Amino acid sequence: RVERTLAMVKPDAFKHLGKILNAISQSGFRINNLRVCQLRKEEAETFYAVHRGKPFFEKLTTFMSSGRIAAIELVAPGAISKWRELIGPTDSNKARAEAPNSIRAHFGTDGSFNAVHGSDATDTAAEEIRFFFSQPSLGKCDLGR
Ligand code: CMP
Repeated sequence: RVERTLAMVKPDAFKHLGKILNAISQSGFRINNLRVCQLRKEEAETFYAVHRGKPFFEKLTTFMSSGRIAAIELVAPGAISKWRELIGPTDSNKARAEAPNSIRAHFGTDGSFNAVHGSDATDTAAEEIRFFFSQPSLGKCDLGR
């Protein structure tokens, strides 16, 4: 079943974007859309609204608005679980122990600064793709527009 998912390269791994795109391409995804942005704090809060009220919310949204990110719409059979498999566990230290070839194992630091994001289900994937690709006025995107 062909699916779409929203992959994001976070500010801590933006300098590795080229290598991450290469890994994506080598893994058989089609890149349907890509946008480079720096999110406003309020936009990071909206994207991660499901985590509002959690102890790490402030740290997460400050981090996610601290520099450029790349939002990437990926298409493949089983894209959601396929991308989550490629990135490894949320905590980069766990990723190094359990999935040493994963993207988080290579480029993440810990459970907060973990290099990449992936949608967790079809409904959130659709919502996250809409967030990045149906909002022309989002943050500072696309050649600083
Ligand atoms: P992500 O896959 O983008 O989804 C939510 C993010 O919140 C997660 O990656 C981490 O960056 C962050 N996060 C999740 N759990 C914690 C935690 N316990 N402490 C700090 N940050 C977390």
